[in-house]
Amino acid sequence: MDTFTIGGDLEVHRLGFGAMRVTGRGIWGPPEDPDEAERVLRRVVELGIDLIDTADSYGPEVSESLIAETLHPYPDGLVIATKGGLLRTGPSQWPRDGRPEHLKEACEGSLRRLRLERIDVYQLHSPDPRVPWEDSVGAMKELKDEGKVRHVGISNVSVDELERARSIVEVVTVQNRYNLEDRRSEDVLERCEELGIGFIPWFPLATGDLARSGGPLDRIASAHDAAPAQIALAWLLARSPVMLPIPGTSSVEHLEENVRAAAIELSEDEVAAIGSASQG
Ligand SMILES: NC(=O)c1ccc[n+]([C@@H]2O[C@H](COP(=O)([O-])OP(=O)(O)OC[C@H]3O[C@@H](n4cnc5c(N)ncnc54)[C@H](OP(=O)(O)O)[C@@H]3O)[C@@H](O)[C@H]2O)c1
Repeated sequence: MDTFTIGGDLEVHRLGFGAMRVTGRGIWGPPEDPDEAERVLRRVVELGIDLIDTADSYGPEVSESLIAETLHPYPDGLVIATKGGLLRTGPSQWPRDGRPEHLKEACEGSLRRLRLERIDVYQLHSPDPRVPWEDSVGAMKELKDEGKVRHVGISNVSVDELERARSIVEVVTVQNRYNLEDRRSEDVLERCEELGIGFIPWFPLATGDLARSGGPLDRIASAHDAAPAQIALAWLLARSPVMLPIPGTSSVEHLEENVRAAAIELSEDEVAAIGSASQG
């Protein structure tokens, strides 16, 4: 698996792990099978994955705490990218809070739970329409200046929000929803490519109608003796050298299947065929 260097000094394999699913239903509370969730996290490291994405809001607190309980002291080179800026008021509810005071408090909580002195990549989870974007990003810059955060990432942003954030602080990653059935962030991905910064597509396994029996993804998957979701991941990795997919799962079996996808080599024709089918 090839690598990408985040922020000029954090070299990671391009397929990471999203730790949102090691929590309860609705991303609320503890996982239904805590032993399997721990096995998943241990297997992530054994398989050589060195980028784990999480957030204070996953559980809330459950994902970060489980990562620390299972993996601390962390192996050298493991990059934990966490996020702040969302609140939890119940299962599947995610109100935003981008106030500087909230982001600073959230960062302290993540440092404590993850048992870190500095967070390698701290991501602003989402713009909050009630708070000027510049104020939220300014708080991220202050956290970096204070040494609590090594690098700043942003999430769920437009190209305009990316540019405005970059005028305040160096941005090393953008994390947006992007997959074969939703490529609305294509312009953001292209800007990340121009800038050489990481693009972390969330919900990477979604394939929608493309995976239907006899459809383009299904045909290419059969040719590679693979599942459509594996081809979706292989396509994302082929789509751009700045692409850092973070598929999430609560099962070791699915984790291993997702990692195997990184070894699938699609031909140029296959990449093009999947790409044009996904754009309708
Ligand atoms: N920035 C944001 O706003 C934002 C939003 C959402 C997510 N994220 C991040 O992105 C990561 C990935 O997003 P996501 O979890 O929504 O989407 P995803 O990784 O595309 O899909 C996860 C879902 O697919 C299932 N799955 C995983 N591997 C599978 C396999 N090999 N075969 C069949 N099913 C499989 C999982 O169920 P099982 O548990 O049964 O495997 C789970 O329901 C999250 O973990 C989180 O870190 C960020």
